[in-house]
Amino acid sequence: MTSRDKILSLFRSNSEAFMSGQEISRTLNISRAAVWKQVELLREQGFEIEAQRSKGYRLLGGPDLLLASEIEKDLACQHLGRSLVCLPEIDSTNARARQLAEQGAADGTVIIADRQSAGRGRLGRRWESPSAVNMYCSILLRPQIPVQQAPQLTFLSAVAVAETLNHLYQLPAKVKWPNDVLVAGKKIAGLLNEMNAETEQIHFVILGVGVNLNMTVEQFPEELNYPATSVLLETGEKIDRVEFAREFLQRIDGYYGEFLVEGFVPIRRRWEALCDMMNTRVQIDQGLIGTVVGLDSDGALRLQLDDGCVERIMAGDVRPV
Ligand code: BTN
Repeated sequence: MTSRDKILSLFRSNSEAFMSGQEISRTLNISRAAVWKQVELLREQGFEIEAQRSKGYRLLGGPDLLLASEIEKDLACQHLGRSLVCLPEIDSTNARARQLAEQGAADGTVIIADRQSAGRGRLGRRWESPSAVNMYCSILLRPQIPVQQAPQLTFLSAVAVAETLNHLYQLPAKVKWPNDVLVAGKKIAGLLNEMNAETEQIHFVILGVGVNLNMTVEQFPEELNYPATSVLLETGEKIDRVEFAREFLQRIDGYYGEFLVEGFVPIRRRWEALCDMMNTRVQIDQGLIGTVVGLDSDGALRLQLDDGCVERIMAGDVRPV
């Protein structure tokens, strides 16, 4: 945590009471001049901090910033977020997570950015990542599971995003195979998972999660080839991104813990309950037509054809017919 984050967290834990510069400097073991400088920087970031000569400083309000100290406050996680890295800007949180993983970062490390200059989508596409409106997050995991089971982790993030949207904003979020979260048929989140493994051993998995939170219509690129939405567009209200990030991390943390103990079955059931294409006739790309009957243990979609045979679909776009 930077000195700025520490000062902010002191202010938060002190509610709205004043704290003298001396008290802050003693608690954090930094000079009074450093306290003053950090307070100025916080003000520049949009924090409203009152200063009174006899009483010191107190925090009156703050901007909507994804700061580690804000997200960590009351964060109840077992596995994730012991190392939580929040960055104002990065090329891609997945790329950063990979670098950190290669340098030995621990299981459960979380990278969150306020903006991505080269956000990555699936199939080499770009993920539009404007500043201060959405959540761009990558979670580094080092599960001790067979390599073939790694694709199962994909479904943890989809379920956690959909349930968070539902719980906090009562949005009827649904999951779409393989890796999307939709509201009213429009994409609200995208998931991009990457793995580094040998034949027998997983070195690490990165769960990349982008959720459109306060994005406006003008901020979506014109050339999008699918309908997209955000929480703001669905609810008409600007939401608290810190609250979203905290709730999402807690949920995915719970599911990861459950997955490590009980395996894939509970998360598969949850995913199937959130998938509105279950038992629906669909077409895969321009080809196979059949009824969705569930997920396989490796994450393949199980499609029952008209002759009764069940095909395993490994990739493709699924559309109702
Ligand atoms: C998709 O194409 O649907 C997947 C989009 C995934 C975007 C997220 S944002 C956080 C993480 N970092 C990236 O560069 N991409 C993922």
